[in-house]
Amino acid sequence: MPLIAPSILSADFTRLGEQIEEAEQGGADWIHVDVMDGHFVPNITIGPLVVEAARRATELPLDVHLMIEEPERYLADFVQAGANRLTVHQETCPHLHRTVQQIRELGALPGVAVNPATPVETLADILPFVDLVLVMSVNPGFGGQSYIEGSSAKVRRLIGMLSAQGRRGVEIEVDGGIDPKTAPSIAAAGATVLVAGSAIFGSGSISANIQAIRKSLAVEV
Ligand code: DX5
Ligand code: ZN
Repeated sequence: MPLIAPSILSADFTRLGEQIEEAEQGGADWIHVDVMDGHFVPNITIGPLVVEAARRATELPLDVHLMIEEPERYLADFVQAGANRLTVHQETCPHLHRTVQQIRELGALPGVAVNPATPVETLADILPFVDLVLVMSVNPGFGGQSYIEGSSAKVRRLIGMLSAQGRRGVEIEVDGGIDPKTAPSIAAAGATVLVAGSAIFGSGSISANIQAIRKSLAVEV
């Protein structure tokens, strides 16, 4: 059963601490934090200050997704704020190997993300060095978009690459448009972490929404 990582992008920021606690009590495994800079993606969201506040609200792993240019400038700030995992985009890192090493040296677990149009095959030479690969199933920048079909096929190709390299234990995270309808096929493809924002924080009870995703995963596809 994949882990569930609620994305606080869709949370009510006036009650962020409470909403994170509710997600934790409702069975969230990680808390996913979407950092956007208005350059790599059109939207601007949050920085280390909010990560530091989230850190005080939970002991769950903070899974920080950096949708920013030149992420290497901010890695130390995010680790200091309490990030456990830092994921950078392949598209923003000309020296990806160095950036991944920096994350590890800072004491966080490095991940690499790819946009919908970036083939997972471009990650072949970085896979030995990362703990997580994030497959974007929407174009990064906003919550509430529709899942792009074909993302499961990317997950399957990635699993093939990892097993060809004899790599075990690398988390395969899928992010964007995940809800009880889309989750089962993504899980069946072999994703190990599902990120969901609007399906969890959008409306209704946070814990019921997490349960609805979990329940959908119990159904055969
Ligand atoms: C999109 C972000 C996602 C987003 C997912 O750029 O990386 O984490 O919050 O939101 P939903 O689940 O609403 O697609
Ligand atoms: Zn994200």
